[in-house]
Amino acid sequence: MWGGRFDEAPDAVMRAINASLPFDKVMWRQDIAASRAHAEMLAAQGIVSAVDVAAIDAGLAQLAEEFERDGPPDGDDEDIHMAVEARLTALIGPAAGRLHTARSRNDQVATDFRLWVRDAIDRASAAIGAMRAALLDRAEQHADAVMPGFTHLQSAQPVTLGHHLMAWLEMLVRDASRFTDARARANQSPLGSAALAGTGFPVDRHATAQALGFDGPTANSLDSVSDRDFAIEFLTAATQCALHLSRMAEEIVIWASQPFGFVDLPDRWSTGSSIMPQKRNPDAAELVRGHSGRIMGCLTALMVTMKGLPLAYSKDMQDDKEPVFEAAGMLQVSLAAMTGMVRELTFRTDRMRTLAESGFATATDLADWLVREADVPFREAHHIVGRAVKLAEERGCGLPELPLADLQSIDARIDDRVFDVLTIDASVASRTSHGGTAPVRVREAIAAARAALESS
Ligand code: ARG
Repeated sequence: MWGGRFDEAPDAVMRAINASLPFDKVMWRQDIAASRAHAEMLAAQGIVSAVDVAAIDAGLAQLAEEFERDGPPDGDDEDIHMAVEARLTALIGPAAGRLHTARSRNDQVATDFRLWVRDAIDRASAAIGAMRAALLDRAEQHADAVMPGFTHLQSAQPVTLGHHLMAWLEMLVRDASRFTDARARANQSPLGSAALAGTGFPVDRHATAQALGFDGPTANSLDSVSDRDFAIEFLTAATQCALHLSRMAEEIVIWASQPFGFVDLPDRWSTGSSIMPQKRNPDAAELVRGHSGRIMGCLTALMVTMKGLPLAYSKDMQDDKEPVFEAAGMLQVSLAAMTGMVRELTFRTDRMRTLAESGFATATDLADWLVREADVPFREAHHIVGRAVKLAEERGCGLPELPLADLQSIDARIDDRVFDVLTIDASVASRTSHGGTAPVRVREAIAAARAALESS
């Protein structure tokens, strides 16, 4: 491409370190789409003849069919942009050489990459939507199922499984909005910024932006070819989402352990052991947890690549793509695996209920009752209930099984109405504050979340 200035061919190692075709070939669709938009504009503006542009456009259409059929190009070309131009030249001859008028690979790669990231955002958003739908179904199914709620992974207060699954959903709602925000900022067209300074040809950047579905052209040619914020923002949203999936996956791992026994992993989502015949391992959940670390690593990699670069383009920026491609793939498979597990896990609600009843989970309810019914200051009530828990522990029973006489020996203001609040069902039903675990609130939250998902 630049033979005019050079006498010698590049060293083999130079070619190896310089080549990006092995990974950037996945952008072939975006490269062809951007080239077709550019060519149309060149004809409309009278920069290249309609005859040449017709040949270019037909050639690019033919290449698209070829790559669709046989897979993207590989070979000795440096990158996907060179490979497409080389194939086009082979197909249509010298007219192909007019395509690169008023364009540089710097604005070309910035455009292709934005288009690729935009598609990746749309794929992630759709996958998050599918997981939200799966969570809503399971939350609805288990809106009343009581399970232990934890702090410090110690039994704290009873909650419902529906409420817990809706907590997962909230994380995904925020993730979806982060991807939506990232998309809005990414959707600007750098095409026509050329190498760094813009071009003297009378290009119509608004027309190419529109043809490619961008909201408009970027404002500054230097920034256009230097900016990789869109990729970093995609990775930031992906990292945050992966972090959420990792926490959910960790809960599945804990819940599937024998001491917990909250879920049975279906065969379809577990693996066995080559030595221990009884094993059923939560590998998919563990790998979701594992992938999150790598996705975070991709974000770090790109930020570190970018942080010291002067404007405008530096070849370091060719290293922007692999972390994005890799993270996008890992996020997609993680979301699909989590969605599958959410749909197909068997929740052992009987076991959850048994464990919710242990661990004095309604101790706060007893303290609240003393505050409400006997006008005891909360701190004092806390102390009284602490003594009741200690007594129950000594007796080897739960709080609801303590005889009234025992409770009254601790505090005479307690009467038999207290037993109404000591069951786990009464406990969750009482938590009716906005966002609370009471089944009535959880059902409202599910209905609102369904409406939000349908309108998104
Ligand atoms: N393969 C390059 C990349 O991915 C394309 C841009 C090359 N531009 C240049 N001036 N060398 O960044």
